[in-house]
Amino acid sequence: MKEAGYEIAIYPGDGTGPEVVREGRRVMDVLAEGGPASWHATEYPGGGQYYLQTGREWEPEAAAAARAADAILVGAVGWPGATLPNGDLAGRALVLGLREGLDLFANVRPCKLYPGVRHRISGEFREVWSPKNVDMVVVRENTEDLYTPVRGRLRRADETEVAIDTRIITRKGSERVIRFAFELARGRAHGAPEDGVRRVTCVDKSNVMEGCRFFRETFDRIAADYPEIERDYAYVDAFAQWLVRNPEHYNVVVATNMMGDIVTDLAAVLQGGMGFASGGNIGHEHGMFEPVHGSAPKYAGKNQANPFATFFAVEQMLRWLGGRHADPRLVRQADRLERSLARTLAEGRARTYDQGGTVTTREAGDRVIEAIRGEPR
Ligand code: IPM
Ligand code: MN
Repeated sequence: MKEAGYEIAIYPGDGTGPEVVREGRRVMDVLAEGGPASWHATEYPGGGQYYLQTGREWEPEAAAAARAADAILVGAVGWPGATLPNGDLAGRALVLGLREGLDLFANVRPCKLYPGVRHRISGEFREVWSPKNVDMVVVRENTEDLYTPVRGRLRRADETEVAIDTRIITRKGSERVIRFAFELARGRAHGAPEDGVRRVTCVDKSNVMEGCRFFRETFDRIAADYPEIERDYAYVDAFAQWLVRNPEHYNVVVATNMMGDIVTDLAAVLQGGMGFASGGNIGHEHGMFEPVHGSAPKYAGKNQANPFATFFAVEQMLRWLGGRHADPRLVRQADRLERSLARTLAEGRARTYDQGGTVTTREAGDRVIEAIRGEPR
């Protein structure tokens, strides 16, 4: 426990990032009211828009602050036309760069449908919540696979002939993320919604790819240390189908980086859309938390973006910090935030445009803050 409080470095980033982060910070301030300050937050500029203005993705102080902080909160990065000379996304330093640089090997993406949240499939809003449907966590490997910066082009006389990305699956990378998934399944309050069974599903393409065969072998080896947890397997193509048809089967899912990237956007549909999807990028020493939705340039500056993904990212961050420092104050505030979010959603009081409502980003923040004030500290 840190008596003096935790240092949180915040990077609002691009597009709708600053708008949702502003609400996230207000929520953090309200959670901290009336108690000894458990945390102190500092904001740093950076991202694609910053790059267009300054020629730098962020300042050296901002990068150093991420390394020094107890936890990191990122809004979103990416802006049309903001590209580094080598073709990479300007702002990648804040997301991909931190994942690599701080070795944030597990990307933890909870996918839970709360009462009062609507699904949107084929343009129609539907309320389908039942206690028995969507409540899983996808753990995506976050440092290797097709994201390894081992790529390039073969040019002959200025003409690209070949473009290559390398899929790298290592023993260390697989072991640690798979172990993380099993530990998570062990520590969660419950198993799969379908049957209450604690289960870890290994998502791969081991019927074709060598890296996936290795990943699955590693999965089996690690699973042997967790006999009380059911092992489950799915080829990623079939998984895409079952995820939509039978989400109640899943409890904890573990996948390699690129497949995890794709299936978590699909899974987000089941939790009401990207407006609710948060991710924690977690390593042995550092944690970075973010709404998964990206900068949504079309909605930037309009006060329309759904801030719930950021609220859930804040909840994830406080819970992780509390666990890491054995600090019950933070876990209590994470619980209080989750109850407040659940209540606001259940009452249908914060429906932003993506939920078919007209509530603004700021109003959604106001409603959550009212709910927090009504919850015991
Ligand atoms: C995500 C995003 C990133 C990724 C992008 C912005 C590089 O899609 O966090 O899922 O591909 O990991
Ligand atoms: Mn993604």
